[in-house]
Amino acid sequence: MKALLLESVHPLAESLLRDAGFEVETRPGALDEDELIAALEGVHLLGIRSKTEVTPRVLTAATDLEAIGCFCIGTNQVALAEAAERGVVVFNAPFSNTRSVVELAIAEIIVMARRLTEKDGALHSGVWDKNAKGSHEIRGRKLGIVGYGNIGSQLSVVAEMLGLQVYFYDVEDKLALGNAKRCDSLEELLETAEVITLHVDGRPGNAGFFGAAQFERMRHRSLFLNLSRGFVVDYDALRDNLESGHIAGAAVDVFPSEPKKRGDEFVSPLQRIPNVVLTPHIGGSTEEAQEDIGRFVATKLRDFVERGTTTLTVNLPALTLDGHPGDRRILHLHTNTPGVLAKVNSILANHGVNIEGQLLATKADIGYVVSDVRDVPAAAIEELRALPETIRLRVVE
Ligand SMILES: NC(=O)c1ccc[n+]([C@@H]2O[C@H](COP(=O)([O-])OP(=O)(O)OC[C@H]3O[C@@H](n4cnc5c(N)ncnc54)[C@H](O)[C@@H]3O)[C@@H](O)[C@H]2O)c1
Repeated sequence: MKALLLESVHPLAESLLRDAGFEVETRPGALDEDELIAALEGVHLLGIRSKTEVTPRVLTAATDLEAIGCFCIGTNQVALAEAAERGVVVFNAPFSNTRSVVELAIAEIIVMARRLTEKDGALHSGVWDKNAKGSHEIRGRKLGIVGYGNIGSQLSVVAEMLGLQVYFYDVEDKLALGNAKRCDSLEELLETAEVITLHVDGRPGNAGFFGAAQFERMRHRSLFLNLSRGFVVDYDALRDNLESGHIAGAAVDVFPSEPKKRGDEFVSPLQRIPNVVLTPHIGGSTEEAQEDIGRFVATKLRDFVERGTTTLTVNLPALTLDGHPGDRRILHLHTNTPGVLAKVNSILANHGVNIEGQLLATKADIGYVVSDVRDVPAAAIEELRALPETIRLRVVE
């Protein structure tokens, strides 16, 4: 089988896939629609990052394609529903940069508490100012985490190790790790914590959810961080609160509209305000995260091809499957309509095939049934393939 890896994904992905027996072609940049269609002939696995658009037209043309690995967090660049309709599985790397974001948040809390950007700026312009006024330790401070998901909960653990008292608020009922305390409302958290950090997801309902009313509710002279999504915060309101001195410092990594490429101009209401740390959406950008993304996604692609495992896919039903040495495994993606499982089992029974293990999962319009058998005649496979509900059928050893 052939894999095409675009956009300089980490070399670990290439070596993992080669070790698994794939023929691997790599290209440094993204391809446009026509180039991609031409390049995908005879390709079974496609690896991309955020700049390659996999459109419905690409998916229609790429008849050999079975799986797409997004070597990044987002999957907006892929027409996910159309991929699912064609039985093309899509994976991404939702956790690989969690630790990187956490470490940046911790660093920024210390930078703001010690007002390091001001000290650094003064010294670079030749002014020696050793004054301790306004500089604080973070030990014993109350940290308020909004959004206790992958990043928020890991930040909770690391922050506690540094002596911060952790409070959090999440719309879901989340397990509090370590000594962290759950708040019943965002308001309670804002009134309690001295540092507020946002780690909510990008659901549409979160647009502008943190604005003037929330800043007003925060404790006087507290610190604010946003490393989640730019559109969740009203940055004009943040600037007003920084200028009035109600908020003592801010660290912002994400913006409602971000420049497309390196060197493009960047404009924000938060520029040129003391004790404000601005970073160009680099929370998750570390070499360690890139390497882990390469490992994580390549492993998902390999396990899908070798075993049919779809764990953590973003567009198809998810099944975690062990290997069954000596068995044959029938992987059957189908439209999710009543009676498909009965039809599959009746075809196998008519051919005298004994099913040793079977799993079914469904997601929206797609069903995925995996049957482990000792052997299966070619005629049975042809009958399964001919079912009107069949989207894709594959047999692995
Ligand atoms: N700065 C970066 O480079 C970078 C890197 C990775 C992720 N991120 C962003 O960080 C954010 C968190 O990522 P994650 O992997 O932890 O996501 P996640 O989905 O694991 O966690 C998000 C949590 O926020 C909660 N939540 C959603 N809306 C909320 C609200 N209004 N109030 C309180 N809780 C709310 C959810 O219930 C969930 O527990 C995402 O927005 C992601 O895009 C940024």
